[in-house]
Amino acid sequence: MLLAFVLGTTRAGLLALPGVSSADRTRFDALVAEREATARPVAYLTGRRAFAALDLAVGTGVLVPRPETEHLVELFVELDQEGAIPPGPVVDRGTGSGAIALAVADACGAKRRVVACDLSAAALRIAARNVRALEAEGQVALVRGDGLSPFGDDTFAAVLVNPPYVEPGEWDGLPTDVRDHEPRMALVPAQGSVSAMYTSLLGAARRVLKPGGWFVTEVGDGQASTVAGQARADGWECVTVRADLAGIERVVAARA
Ligand SMILES: C[S@@+](CC[C@H](N)C(=O)[O-])C[C@H]1O[C@@H](n2cnc3c(N)ncnc32)[C@H](O)[C@@H]1O
Repeated sequence: MLLAFVLGTTRAGLLALPGVSSADRTRFDALVAEREATARPVAYLTGRRAFAALDLAVGTGVLVPRPETEHLVELFVELDQEGAIPPGPVVDRGTGSGAIALAVADACGAKRRVVACDLSAAALRIAARNVRALEAEGQVALVRGDGLSPFGDDTFAAVLVNPPYVEPGEWDGLPTDVRDHEPRMALVPAQGSVSAMYTSLLGAARRVLKPGGWFVTEVGDGQASTVAGQARADGWECVTVRADLAGIERVVAARA
């Protein structure tokens, strides 16, 4: 990936490569050395990451979008195509690079306006770059604020969220490329525990959702049954769990 980045080609394009100039070789060697020395994620070195059908800018201060999160977008788009989602805007709570908001805007077209919010100014700067680059200004609005607090009651047709779901005690055990480089606030809930975070999220989502609106959240490995159980106990309907390609239950959706 680093060589493809240096040469401005794709990984497939490397197969047909006649050779590498010494200047490109030097640049490539420097990137490999930096990766070896610092474990800086490849996406930060190249400044790009593919997500769904999009090629997004990423950088320090924003979570590198993960392929698992594409399942959240897929599930929402399926529900929308089935007619399950009421009319109205949707919110991507904790948008980071804008990955979920922009992928939903891309898949659903102009009929869905998306509000993408985050507390992190650094994340919103990168999200704004992506919104501009994809010419999505008419469809995706960026808002800075804490959680869903900037929004009124009964506002959204869906709340989409990939929340910080790493327990504070698990932080030290994370791989170094994550722990030393990605923002802690994107990974560890400010509420102090994952269960307190989901409790607060479910309550806030219910408040901002229109009747019949959907809450769709990514969950960490092993968290799906607890979150789905909590949603059922809180009176949410049609609670659905979707696994990722590794077979891990990764997305929980529920109707208000
Ligand atoms: C796991 S990351 C998800 C980023 C992006 N949605 C994605 O899937 O790649 C969580 C995001 O929530 C944001 N965040 C954390 N606490 C927040 C809060 N209290 N209010 C709003 N956003 C918050 C972080 O800045 C981060 O961008």
